[in-house]
Amino acid sequence: MFVNKLQMLADNLRTHNNVSLIPNPYFPEGWFAVCLSKELKKDQLKRLSYFSTEFIAIRDENGEAVVMDAYCPHMGAFLGRKGKVVGGQVVCPFHEWKFNAQGDCVEVPFCERAPSTARSKLKAYPTIERNGMVMMWRHSSREPYYEIPDLSELSGKAWTNQICFKFITRGNSMEAKENVCDGSHFVTIHDQPEPTFCEFNTDGPFATHRVQMGLNLKRLGLSPKVAKFVLKHVGNSDMTTSFYGPGFQNMHALNPLFEMAEEIHSTPVDEHRSIVWFLTRVSKESAWSPMPWLFLAIVKAREAKDVMMEVPIFAHKKFMDKPLFQKQEMAIPKFRKWYGQFYAEGESGKPVMRDIAANAPTSKTGRISKLESANGNAAKVQFAATDS
Ligand code: FES
Ligand SMILES: [Fe+2]
Repeated sequence: MFVNKLQMLADNLRTHNNVSLIPNPYFPEGWFAVCLSKELKKDQLKRLSYFSTEFIAIRDENGEAVVMDAYCPHMGAFLGRKGKVVGGQVVCPFHEWKFNAQGDCVEVPFCERAPSTARSKLKAYPTIERNGMVMMWRHSSREPYYEIPDLSELSGKAWTNQICFKFITRGNSMEAKENVCDGSHFVTIHDQPEPTFCEFNTDGPFATHRVQMGLNLKRLGLSPKVAKFVLKHVGNSDMTTSFYGPGFQNMHALNPLFEMAEEIHSTPVDEHRSIVWFLTRVSKESAWSPMPWLFLAIVKAREAKDVMMEVPIFAHKKFMDKPLFQKQEMAIPKFRKWYGQFYAEGESGKPVMRDIAANAPTSKTGRISKLESANGNAAKVQFAATDS
C-alpha cells in the first residue's frame, strides 16, 4: 500500500523532458531568491544551484550576504566543496587563494602580492536581503533597475508569523507564474467558485492581477449547515497579486473570514525545474481574529493539497506557444506579453521566449462584461486586461 503510494508520487513527479520544447534563452532575468536569510550562517559557505549554474553564498565580515561564482579563477576549483569562509572571505580549497566579498583576490600563499586583474576576480553578484530572503541579481546586460519592496510592516503584532512551504515545480517558469491569471483552473483544480471579476495591469517591471470570487467554505472544512449560515453574512473574496519582476510576487487575499498575505518566490534551477517558496501569514485583526492560527493551518494544509494536484500537471505538460485561451484565461496572454520583457533578446531570426511571450494569442471573446455563473444565475462580472 505504502509502496503503491510512493510509486504514484514518483509517477506524478516524472517529467517528459523530451516534449518540453522550450526555446532558449530559457531563463528570465532579474531578482531571484536563493535561500532563506536564516539558512545563510556567518562563516559558512553555502552552495547554490540555480539557472543550470553553480553559485556560492557567504556573509562578509559585516554579516552582509553576497552571492558569488562557484569556480575559482586560478585553476577552476569548485568552491562549493571544501571551500571555506574565514573572516568574511572565501578561501579556495585547492591553492588557498583568498577572495573578499567584492570578489577581489586579496591573498595568494607564497606570493607577496595578490593578482589584481579582472581575470583574477571571483564574480560577486548584486545581492540583497528582503523580507527574510537572500536574493541575487542575475542579468546578462543590466545592473539592478527595479526594487523588491520591504514588507516589514507585515511582521508586526497585527499578523501571525510566516509559515514557509517550499517545493520543486517542473516545466516552464513563465507558465508556473501565469497560473494565478488562469481563472478556469481555480474551479477545476483549486475547488474555488468561478471568478466574477479579473483585472491585470502592468507598469514596467511590475504588474498587478486582481481577482474576485465567492468564498468556498467547503474549502475551509466547514459543514454544509455551518457554511450556509456563514455564507448569509459573507461576501466576495478578493485576491490581489503584485508581481515584482519575474521572481517575486506578493499576494494579498481578503475575505470576510480572514486576511492573508503570501510572499511567493520562484527561482529556476535548470531548464525543467524551479524552486518555489510560499511564505504565508494571516492577520490577527480580521473578523475572526481569535482564530488566525487555525486559519493559517487550514490555508497551508489546503495549499499542500493544491500543490499535489497542480505540480504533476506541470510535470507532464508540454510548453505551448499558442494555447487556446478562453474567456476566463484572457489575462494570461497579457501576463505573457509583460513577462516576455525579462528574457534576453536572441539572435535575429531565431524565435526566443521573449518573442513567443510577446506574440501570445489573445482570446477571441475579448472583453467580458457578463457571464453565466456556475449555478446558472446571471452574474454581473467584468473581465479586463489592460496595460497602463
Ligand atoms: S584553483 Fe583556487 S587557488 Fe588554485
Ligand atoms: Fe494554481
